[in-house]
Amino acid sequence: MCGIVGVLGTHEAAPLLVEALGRLEYRGYDSAGIATLDEGRLGRRRAVGKLVNLSDKLVHEPLRGHSGIGHTRWATHGAPTEANAHPHAGARVAVVHNGIIENYRELREELSARGIGTSTDTDTETVALLCQLYLDQQMPPREAAAATIAKLEGAYALCFLFEDEPDLLIAARKGSPLAIGHGEGEMFVGSDAIALGNLTDRITYLDEGDRAEVTRAGVVIFDAQGREVTRPEKRIAQAAAQVDKAGHKHFMAKEIAEQPRVLAAALGHYLTPEGRIALPEPCIDFTAIDRLTLVACGTAFYACNVAKYWFEQVARLPVEIDVASEFRYREPPMPARSAALFVSQSGETADTLAALRYAKGQGAQILSVVNVTESSIARDSDIALPILAGAEIGVASTKAFTCQLLVLGALALEAARQRGTIDEATLAAHLQGLRALPGLIDQGLSIEAECQRVSRGLAEARDILFLGRGRMYPLALEGALKLKEISYIHAEAYASGELKHGPIALVDEHVPVIVMAPHDELFDKTVSNMQEVMARGGKVLLITDTKGARIAGDGTWEVITLPEIDPLWAPILYAVPAQLLAYHTAVAKGTDVDQPRNLAKSVTVE
Ligand code: M6R
Repeated sequence: MCGIVGVLGTHEAAPLLVEALGRLEYRGYDSAGIATLDEGRLGRRRAVGKLVNLSDKLVHEPLRGHSGIGHTRWATHGAPTEANAHPHAGARVAVVHNGIIENYRELREELSARGIGTSTDTDTETVALLCQLYLDQQMPPREAAAATIAKLEGAYALCFLFEDEPDLLIAARKGSPLAIGHGEGEMFVGSDAIALGNLTDRITYLDEGDRAEVTRAGVVIFDAQGREVTRPEKRIAQAAAQVDKAGHKHFMAKEIAEQPRVLAAALGHYLTPEGRIALPEPCIDFTAIDRLTLVACGTAFYACNVAKYWFEQVARLPVEIDVASEFRYREPPMPARSAALFVSQSGETADTLAALRYAKGQGAQILSVVNVTESSIARDSDIALPILAGAEIGVASTKAFTCQLLVLGALALEAARQRGTIDEATLAAHLQGLRALPGLIDQGLSIEAECQRVSRGLAEARDILFLGRGRMYPLALEGALKLKEISYIHAEAYASGELKHGPIALVDEHVPVIVMAPHDELFDKTVSNMQEVMARGGKVLLITDTKGARIAGDGTWEVITLPEIDPLWAPILYAVPAQLLAYHTAVAKGTDVDQPRNLAKSVTVE
């Protein structure tokens, strides 16, 4: 989604702004722009499409000045045109915005009643024009910004730059994250620490409702009630702000390859050296709840789907599960003896955050499983469990998914231990299985060349089906999501047993059917469904282990063989072929793997 950056520097701001916007590209965008102050005068340059178009424009029409703001826009209100690109401006103020101003129609009417017309389709333009109105009424810039912000409804991260004020940026946050960066005689504003990674490692995160007056001397922050407050300055580890591909062609490839290492790091956090589960204290008392609600979006939702099997089968704990965008409006009752767990890589997904706030309002204990530990979802949780995957830049979530699964798996085992639904020996065996994961994933990655070869065939298809049963059904869903989001091939996933209730009508020799079936207790059932597909001319790619390949490999189109694994944890290992097939199919099709069309990394609007 939209990315924001602001610079009060000691050198030319434009190159710094463009570089920082480059570090925000991963969030997804369709136009970009900057504004700077050159001898007190505002100048703006904006361009549709990739950042390189803005850079080209700046070569021919440079912008000078040491102060500026920049923006990558993911279109919500209005098409991705130059006119709709940020910064938006009045005569003496420029504004960049991430979020949605929900009352922008009323604001437009108010402006129109005063003879002030708009020239774009965006909600953000009203913010700039309203602020300009207050400036025209002789309000000083700080007051004009505060008065403007007070009128806004909806979600926003905002940064204002004023003509004749080269030493001032006003930043504000409600519903969308925003960070202030501290330099030596310089100050910065950014959507996240990654944006500011090349500028500073000293970051202050704004809290919900905060407004910040930023000058080169420092920052003064006011909370939602207008009281001056202090927010902590943190040092961000270099690695957290690192966004290089480490020799890989795409971030997605790098992130797939990183999985053995990050899973090992997560294991080190959640298991003691003796191999026992180590959760932060105090953690949840699973004997005090009769139900767990799991809520998330996209890939994180599929991680919840897998976890449902674990909590129900191993810990005998009933689990309710929903996508956040449905949960938040369904208004489900939350019984007293229940807890709600929210899973999110970014920790900023608007629907997940709203669902969390609903559950909190119902008095539920709130847990979250997040990658970004400074995120809104982590901050709003009673207990936030980090997945320790490191920055995930590719829009298609890969290492975050497997790390989410690992943390949820450890949590499910802890629930089983507390509830007495698992004996010592079985618990020890499953813990041993978890510890084996980094090594198995490492072995699993050796199927890459095979996946690349098979993907050439998949790239020819118009439609692809994924099948799985039990714990592998959510993996089929994840495989289909991964494939469609980066290769743009239509892909659907079905529970294997459900196929004959309708979708089998889709099967013919042109539709590859990818069957995910480790040799587990449901293997024979899945293979029967696979046979039904092959009997109708279907072209099956079977993903299984050596035993499974020996029993059911005959007559299939292709077989991809993974190492044997504790069946409980098979979904974590089988994520690897799902990711590799999607990746290589997308590469074969020549799509934009890391920034697929229309998608944003962190969906901060509803
Ligand atoms: O940051 P989150 O985990 O809350 O994001 C949720 C989804 O938007 C995300 O998983 C999305 O589905 C990915 N692009 C899938 O690869």
